[in-house]
Order: sequence, then structure tokens, then C-alpha cells
Amino acid sequence: MKKIYGIGAGPGDGEYITLKGYKLIRKADMVFIPSSGGKSFAGNIAKDYISDKQVVELDFAMDGNEKGKYAAIARLIDDKLKSGQTGVFLTLGDPMVYSTFCYFMEELVKLGIQVETVPGVTSFCAAANRAKVPVALKGESFYLCDGDIDEEILKAADSVCILKTYKNKASILNALEKHGFEYVYVKRCTCDEEKVLYERDEILKDTDYMSLIMGRRKTV
Ligand SMILES: C[S@@+](CC[C@H](N)C(=O)[O-])C[C@H]1O[C@@H](n2cnc3c(N)ncnc32)[C@H](O)[C@@H]1O
Repeated sequence: MKKIYGIGAGPGDGEYITLKGYKLIRKADMVFIPSSGGKSFAGNIAKDYISDKQVVELDFAMDGNEKGKYAAIARLIDDKLKSGQTGVFLTLGDPMVYSTFCYFMEELVKLGIQVETVPGVTSFCAAANRAKVPVALKGESFYLCDGDIDEEILKAADSVCILKTYKNKASILNALEKHGFEYVYVKRCTCDEEKVLYERDEILKDTDYMSLIMGRRKTV
């Protein structure tokens, strides 16, 4: 039997990798990291722990439809791992939150590979801590989405986080302002390049993919 652990590598600073994740990385026969254009954010987070390991970069930017791509990557892992071996796959934040690992693990299972996942510190929990903005307090509801805001859901929420904001920040900020939310933009959270911005103009100027917006309903 072959086994893959999907490890949540956290938001950016390698010290946020859990102890469980770290131990599994160190014990693994092989480390698989997603990459795009030769760069791997998840690989970079764990760089201090994988430099002496056998590391295989998986090109998630390759051409092809999504389903075919995940199946091809799962086959590649199946080819690399020998029976009885264990690999880890590093993923940003938590593997169960807007992560390609969720789609891709189905393809691993189809090939008879055992899969287990290890939680990681999510980008939005890390950002909330850096900006000192509560995600949710007693009795409140929290809305997590990526890209577009559904204004009907927003109306019922006390607090919100929008991931992948790089394409339509202006419409996101307009919706937050219209429905009485104050907001903060956090970029490259916990990394050296981290920025926490509150001003609309400054937020609109930034185009980093590694960014999110947290909003809380104004109290007065
Ligand atoms: C594919 S989702 C991955 C989410 C991840 N699984 C998690 O648990 O946070 C990628 C989005 O997560 C957010 N993100 C991930 N790391 C971040 C960081 N260090 N700072 C700010 N946003 C981050 C950004 O919104 C980015 O576009």
C-alpha cells in the first residue's frame, strides 16, 4: 500500500506548520510540492525542513482541463512512490479550505493510494490574528468566500473573509461599504513581505494573489 499525507503548510512562516505536519514531513520517503512556473509557495514555506529530502515538484500550471490534470498528477505520484512508501503533499493553509488537494485526493484514492490529511493554519485565521480582527464572536455568523461576494449572504453575516480578491477588489469593497462593513486587506500574511492595509486606494493598487480581505459589520 502507498500512502499520501496532505499536509497543511500554513500561511507562510514555516513556524506555523504543525508539529504533526513537521514530523510527517521528516519521516516521509518523498515530499511532493505543487509548483507553477518553477515556483512553489508551499515548498518555500517548508524549505528548512525538506532540504535533505527527496522532493518532487508537481506542475499544477500544466495545460489541460482540471480533472485531466489532477488525474495525471496522481499517476505521477503513483509512479514515483514504491509500495509501502509514504509521501507528503504540501498545501497552503489548510488542505480542506479552497485547496486543490480536495479534488486531487479523489484521483489518488482511485489509484488505490491511501490518503490522510493534516490540518494547517488557514490564511484567514492567520490574517485575523495579524490584524487583530475577531473572525467571529459569540452569537455571530461568519461568511467565507472566494472571488465574488453574494450580497444576500453578506446581509446576514456579522463578519466575512474573501480570498482570491486580486481580480475584483473594487466590487468587493463597494459591497462591503454598501452593507456597513469595515475592512482590512492582508497580503502575504506571516511572510517577510506581509502588509496590512486599511485605505481603499492603497488596497486597490495592490495586485498580489496572496491576499485577502476581512470585513466586520460596523457596530454604530
Ligand atoms: C487556493 S486558496 C488556498 C487557501 C488555503 N488552503 C487556506 O487554508 O487558507 C489561495 C488564497 O488563499 C489566500 N492566502 C493564502 N495564503 C495567504 C497569505 N499568506 N496571505 C494572504 N492570503 C493568503 C489568498 O486569498 C489566496 O488567493
